[in-house]
Amino acid sequence: MKSANRLKSIAPFHVMDLLAKAKQMQAEGRDIIHLEVGEPDFSSPKAAIDAGIGALKRGNTHYTAATGLPELRQAISDFYLSRYKKQVSPEQIMITPGASGALQLISSLLVDVGENLLLTDPGYPCNRHFLANINGDGILVPTEAEQDFHLTPTLAKENWNDATIGALVASPSNPTGAIMSKQQIQALHKVVTDQQGCLIVDEIYHGLTYGCDAETAVDLADNVFVINSFSKYFAMTGWRLGWLVAPEWAMKDLDKLAQNLFLAPSTPAQYAALALFEPDCIAELETRRAQFSLRLNYLLPALENLGFVVPAKPQGAFYIYADISGLKHALSNDSMAFCLKLLEQTGVAITPGIDFGHQQGHHFVRFAYTADIPVLSDAVNRIATFLKS
Ligand SMILES: Cc1ncc(COP(=O)(O)O)c(C=O)c1O
Repeated sequence: MKSANRLKSIAPFHVMDLLAKAKQMQAEGRDIIHLEVGEPDFSSPKAAIDAGIGALKRGNTHYTAATGLPELRQAISDFYLSRYKKQVSPEQIMITPGASGALQLISSLLVDVGENLLLTDPGYPCNRHFLANINGDGILVPTEAEQDFHLTPTLAKENWNDATIGALVASPSNPTGAIMSKQQIQALHKVVTDQQGCLIVDEIYHGLTYGCDAETAVDLADNVFVINSFSKYFAMTGWRLGWLVAPEWAMKDLDKLAQNLFLAPSTPAQYAALALFEPDCIAELETRRAQFSLRLNYLLPALENLGFVVPAKPQGAFYIYADISGLKHALSNDSMAFCLKLLEQTGVAITPGIDFGHQQGHHFVRFAYTADIPVLSDAVNRIATFLKS
């Protein structure tokens, strides 16, 4: 017996090897600092946990509509109005099993066998695997540090081919934390539209921006899809809940796909999510955002002092994507070996750039500032000692 051939183009995360090693070291009593995993260290807000438990106790354990609970679609629509001053009809909002569910739905909706989407390199690795899973392709477009690793209109034009049906970008981005301005998104949208394609904007790190706001693309045009999630700003990774804002013309087919692929998103998670939009809860999330901002303000200069170079200015998410090639260290050409050695010698776990693309990945590492400042400071001291070794 064998797995389908397309599995050959679906790669595992390199960071998983690191995580396994970190866990083994932890089991042996080593003190490990986890800066490798892409999720908030904060637990889900208590109000959401209570609402989820309440839903279970009330017996809300059955399927909802495939498009999600109408109350939650309405709550998200209200959120777009209060936070962004944008009108989005609840009919165009679909609740999904995480942003991952939304990415899977969009790939299945738009991409035929052999067709492709333009993706950024570096970028979120699962995107190209969602495409491979439906026998489509992701064209990894090498982006430039000087352009904050964004997919520019020029790059989109240059890399568009006969089988390209659109572009997928994330703002704020994983792994860089860089944000596309309104003008940058509009300019990219123009190129995509000129080619009769679609633009997909992954806004999963919205809400986690520091010193600036990120513009949402929800009302840009009817060839634009926006992905979001309760995982990051709302700290609900384990509940597996996200959403998708889609043009009206796509909703019927998305509903049909969701019915078949997932039946419905998790019911208790949807009831829990309703509590997240209450003012007290938003206030708590904003306090956490301020904490992330302080951490960034601490960690970025601390790493730069050690010789890491951070070409794309991180303004959002909770990541710093740092160039190690200028460091005086024997492994500064090999991010995976660098991360493994760093973990072994110091107990600090970070992610090698090779997880995010092919271009320059050997020279980059990603730090997730998902720990308090004293822990980050401990990590910085350990890294300083490592670099002297
Ligand atoms: C850019 C990006 N998109 C999508 C996801 C998937 O998130 P989830 O399925 O938890 O909502 C992630 C997770 O790290 C991500 O970084």
